Amino acid sequence: MTTKHRPAGAVVELHRRQRDLGMSWSDGYLSAFHYIWLRDNCPCSECRHSSGQRILDTTSIPRSISPKFVSLAENGGVDIVWAHDNHSSRYAAEWLRGHSYSEKGGENQRRQPKLWDAETLRPLPEGSYTNVAAAGASLRTWLTLVSDYGFAILRGVPCVSGIVTDVAELFGYVRETNFGRYFDVRTMIDPNNVAYTSLPLSAHTDNPYRDPVPTLQLLHCLSSDDMGGETTVVDGFCVAEALRVREPEKFQLLTTVPVGFQFHDKDCYLEAESTLIQLSPQGQVVGVKFNNASDAPFSVDYDLMEPFYDAYQTFALMLYSPEFEVRVKLDPGDLYIVDNTRVLHGRTRFSGGGKRHFQGCYADMDALLSRLRVLSIDGETPNYGEQGVAA
Ligand code: OGA
Ligand code: ZN
Ligand code: ZN
Repeated sequence: MTTKHRPAGAVVELHRRQRDLGMSWSDGYLSAFHYIWLRDNCPCSECRHSSGQRILDTTSIPRSISPKFVSLAENGGVDIVWAHDNHSSRYAAEWLRGHSYSEKGGENQRRQPKLWDAETLRPLPEGSYTNVAAAGASLRTWLTLVSDYGFAILRGVPCVSGIVTDVAELFGYVRETNFGRYFDVRTMIDPNNVAYTSLPLSAHTDNPYRDPVPTLQLLHCLSSDDMGGETTVVDGFCVAEALRVREPEKFQLLTTVPVGFQFHDKDCYLEAESTLIQLSPQGQVVGVKFNNASDAPFSVDYDLMEPFYDAYQTFALMLYSPEFEVRVKLDPGDLYIVDNTRVLHGRTRFSGGGKRHFQGCYADMDALLSRLRVLSIDGETPNYGEQGVAA
């Protein structure tokens, strides 16, 4: 088999085995794909609709499938003719490489969250409204900050009522709730939520009593003349990882014991149940829910009640500690967004002169990540340094 005249990033040798096809690449990389996987992912027009959706039914593939012929394609990819039905499949090199799964840490790994604490989140991830609203590269950079850090500030947002929903619409859709399309956060008489008082709000994620929870929250500062009322944010994933190392038994309780959350007023009665820390099947932290104000009375097993309180308090005190908490005083025109499945937010007490006024709304991360992928097609991953400013 000749390796001459094959483009860089090409498959240069095939290793036909019983259940899978090994591939050696021009740069020394090795990968292997099972025959059933390759047949399932045939890109031809009989197997895939022009929309990109699969037409081939996975159940139609014999589990004992094997190829009749395998060969190197001219474009650096691979051609296969299948034994059982004589179907021909051609796989592009770039596609194969991007979907390689045989190596741990292979090339199809997801972008990992960048964990942060009080010391490492410097400078703050932020962008300018004028640039970000013009879409293009600045929007892409700002959304990348949200995706990586679960938190970003936007400066210079006009102090116009309701504009927080326009910011959500730069990348996605507003999630309307019983609090409205957007809601005012300011001191109210007879409020239905402690957010609408001048009380401090300890670090929390919003609306854990909803299922599914809104995965993004935006808060826009329209007025902040009062003393205090600083914004706090904490990377729940970073704290959860620290708890895993420092207190493994407490971490285990918080990832396995579900608790209830609730909210009610005269019009609604919302309830949901979840563990405080959610893990992927591989054991990665993929979600944090924490909201002391919305906890239902715990109904964990009798024998676990005290150990559970111990774990809860330990986690909460870590979330509240200056080791992890970032504090920032937002001025009128500043807006922040948090990944509500990861980053907790709060505020310090303020003097209730009645001037402090934020508006908030909810949105969802799936649309944000979709927008980011669309903006990134043909573009490189934005380089904003360690964290930084979306120009
Ligand atoms: C909220 C909230 C923070 C603030 O309304 O969910 O957390 O700064 N508000 O008022
Ligand atoms: Zn096909
Ligand atoms: Zn909140």
